[in-house]
Amino acid sequence: GKSLVVAVDGPSGSGKSSVSKAVATRLGLAFLDTGAMYRSVAWHCLNGRISFADAAAVEAAARTVKMAQSMDPGTEMFTINGINVTAAIREPKISEAVSAVATNLGARAELIRRQQALIAEHGRRIVVEGRDITTVVAPDAEARLILTASEEARLRRRGLQLGGTQSAEQLAEQVLARDAKDSTVVDFQRAADGVYTVDSSDLDFDATVDAVIAVVRRAV
Ligand code: C5P
Repeated sequence: GKSLVVAVDGPSGSGKSSVSKAVATRLGLAFLDTGAMYRSVAWHCLNGRISFADAAAVEAAARTVKMAQSMDPGTEMFTINGINVTAAIREPKISEAVSAVATNLGARAELIRRQQALIAEHGRRIVVEGRDITTVVAPDAEARLILTASEEARLRRRGLQLGGTQSAEQLAEQVLARDAKDSTVVDFQRAADGVYTVDSSDLDFDATVDAVIAVVRRAV
């Protein structure tokens, strides 16, 4: 079919992952979760006792790790060297460690290269979600948008996602501190030229999916 890359960036807790998956399902596109790739490298380093302080070792880990993900938006599945890490990469210890991978420029270059290869392999019929997709990974995407939400909405959603097991302080640390760290490498809060913004603070899930689909239709 015709090339349709939908690039979605945004902060954590903006709902971009579940919204992007639903958009991919509705449009019949593949789905690529790039954050899961950063998380997978972090998991691999922790599991293999690779020190995050050793930038060359982290970069080498990003280059050599065998990771795969189901790019069917209806199936969530991540493997590293054949091990199912779907739940493990969502653990708080990974969220806390992942910025060491995200701020490693060699590791980033490698993951960006892999992401671009995956987009090509899927015939450029894909929704790609992350922090630097609209600007770095796929600046040539047919539709580019930033999904934002107020700090309050993001903390509430992440809290629900984690099943109310975290205190307000833990949540704030995980969501806001991670965004602050991420902002040092990629500017995902401000839409670049030609990039649409969808603010989901006052929209429910279905309305957010509709708003994103409307942006895609307007853009193509
Ligand atoms: O989206 P998710 O919260 O799973 O992303 C995990 C981490 O991966 C982010 O906090 C960020 O540090 C990093 N990341 C990135 N670039 C992307 C996607 C994620 O730096 N495109």
